[in-house]
Amino acid sequence: MTEHLTVVNHPLVQHKLSIMRDKTTSTSKFRQLLREISMLLAYEVTRDLPMTTKIIDTPLCPMEAPMLEGRKLALVSILRAGNGLLDGILELIPAARVGFVGLYRDPETLQPVQYYCKLPSELDERWTIVVDPMLATGNSSAAAIDLVKKQGAKNIIFLCLLAAPEGVARMKEAHPDVRIVTAALDDHLNDHGYIVPGLGDAGDRMFGTK
Ligand code: URA
Repeated sequence: MTEHLTVVNHPLVQHKLSIMRDKTTSTSKFRQLLREISMLLAYEVTRDLPMTTKIIDTPLCPMEAPMLEGRKLALVSILRAGNGLLDGILELIPAARVGFVGLYRDPETLQPVQYYCKLPSELDERWTIVVDPMLATGNSSAAAIDLVKKQGAKNIIFLCLLAAPEGVARMKEAHPDVRIVTAALDDHLNDHGYIVPGLGDAGDRMFGTK
C-alpha cells in the first residue's frame, strides 16, 4: 500500500529548504528557491502517474515511446501561497489543467472560509494534485480536498513544502485516501497556528507582504 506521508529527503530539497527557512533570506531568493524546490517535489509527486505511449520516429527507427498522460492531470492551488508551488510544477507539466481554491483562515477560530473556487472539468477522470506550501492545522487542506472530491476527484495527492504533525493527523482523519508529499515534517504548531520551526508566513515570504 502507498504510504500516507512521503517526506522527500533529497539533499537538494533539504538544502534549498534550509535557505528558505532562514529569516534573512530575501523575497526574491525565497521565490526562486520555492520554484526550484517545487520542480524537485514534482518529480516525487508524479512518480506513479498514469503513462501512455506514442509511436515516434527516432533518427534510427520507429518506437513506441512512453509519454505522461499530461491532460489527465489537474493541479489545484490553494490561494494564495499554493501559487508558489504551482509555477514550478507547471513548468515541468505544461499540459496539466489548473484549478484554484480561495480559502483564508479565520484568525480567531483557525477555520477555513471559502471565497473562491474554480476547478477543471472531469476531475473524476484525472489525477488531482492539490498544492499548498504549509500543512498546518490541516483545516484548509481538508476543506479544499472536500471541494475537489465534490467535483468528482478520486485520485488525489496533496503536495506541500512543510507539514506539522497536527495537519498530517487531521488530513489522515478527514481524507485517509489522500497521499501527502512534503519536503519536511516539522515539530509542532504554535498557539497562532504557525508551524515550528517552520519558515513563517509562506504567502508573506513569497510575495513580500506583512
Ligand atoms: N501558514 C503559513 O504560511 N505558515 C505557517 O507556519 C502556517 C500556516
